Amino acid sequence: MDMAPSLHDLSEALGFEVLKIDHLGIAVRDLEGALAPYRLLGLDVHEFETVEDQGVRTAVLPLGESRLELLEPTRPDSPVARFLEKRGEGIHHVAIGVDDVSSALLHLESRGVELIDRAPRRGAGGAMIAFLHPRAMHGVLLELCQRGPHS
Ligand code: CO
Repeated sequence: MDMAPSLHDLSEALGFEVLKIDHLGIAVRDLEGALAPYRLLGLDVHEFETVEDQGVRTAVLPLGESRLELLEPTRPDSPVARFLEKRGEGIHHVAIGVDDVSSALLHLESRGVELIDRAPRRGAGGAMIAFLHPRAMHGVLLELCQRGPHS
């Protein structure tokens, strides 16, 4: 008999549930140019979207249950522009889908996890998102991402 708590029991105790890798964010200098090798793999753009708040233009490439999001800065002082300057092109963040980003933030903050966003904000595709600090996640910029029924 398996006495380990089920994922369902755990999520009830936590007040939220993690769902899947929602997307990987990949920082690129030139969105159109960066798409070519992905198109060779058979991936294509579902939509382009500019998120002015974050100074970023995104191309969303669906991939199974998940997606890749290519990120091009729209201004030199945006977080993605600063990332490109410091680290060059590459994986910028990992986004974990959750069913309740506010509960997840409260839970993490109460346990001393360093957050970038203490409250959810609106991201690409109308999702509610929040970033955890890479210092707390061993060098990974982790995004929590909650999608509504139409995103
Ligand atoms: Co993202």
